[in-house]
Amino acid sequence: MRIDIITVLPELLKSPFEHSIIKRAREKGHVDIYIHNLRDYTTNKHRSVDDYPFGGDAGMVMMIEPIDRAISALKSEREYDEVIYTSPDGIKYNQQEANKLATFENIIILCGHYKGIDQRIREHLITKEISIGDYVLTGGELAASILVDSVVRLIPGVISDETSALTDSFQDNLLAPPVYTRPAEYKGWRVPDVLLSGNFKEIEKWKEEQSFERTKSLRPDLLNEEE
Ligand code: ADE
Repeated sequence: MRIDIITVLPELLKSPFEHSIIKRAREKGHVDIYIHNLRDYTTNKHRSVDDYPFGGDAGMVMMIEPIDRAISALKSEREYDEVIYTSPDGIKYNQQEANKLATFENIIILCGHYKGIDQRIREHLITKEISIGDYVLTGGELAASILVDSVVRLIPGVISDETSALTDSFQDNLLAPPVYTRPAEYKGWRVPDVLLSGNFKEIEKWKEEQSFERTKSLRPDLLNEEE
């Protein structure tokens, strides 16, 4: 998979992809992540990417030209499955959406800033708008890094324990069961007996019950969602 991210803050996006699982996924060639500085696609002297809004509102708006030039340059090299814009008014991101993105070959993510982007970019260049939640960030970079992180770990081969990604919270609209490790008792706080029993059938049953009970008490909304 190839992911191209267009941003005015390339430095902000470096570190999230330089550690642990995502770093190894890049080294092993499971994913190529390219970060493009939007200012490299400007033609004006000051390399500015934003301008005042027509109609006189407060705040600045990202201009159409540098974004069009950046997206067109990428599209001239290869086909893209999706051109995503991270924005608080996009569809709300969830595990099902991550699963879908993980099946793609090439995606572009455009990180928004300031008051937003010229509406014509959304109408003509963007194919999907994604929000990571009902709150407003200072820019789309952190949202983009969340998309990339959640998608890359789903690419086959990225997580060595193959079943691990499939047993995540949310994969079946249920929260994951609790997990424990040694010691079996600490300050009198004991690991549930069933996990020490060696009875795998009972352990599986316990995990399923825990998943269901945790979901019912913490996220009952998930139980009503379509898979
Ligand atoms: N940019 C600003 N806020 C955002 C959000 N909640 N999701 C995605 N991109 C954003």
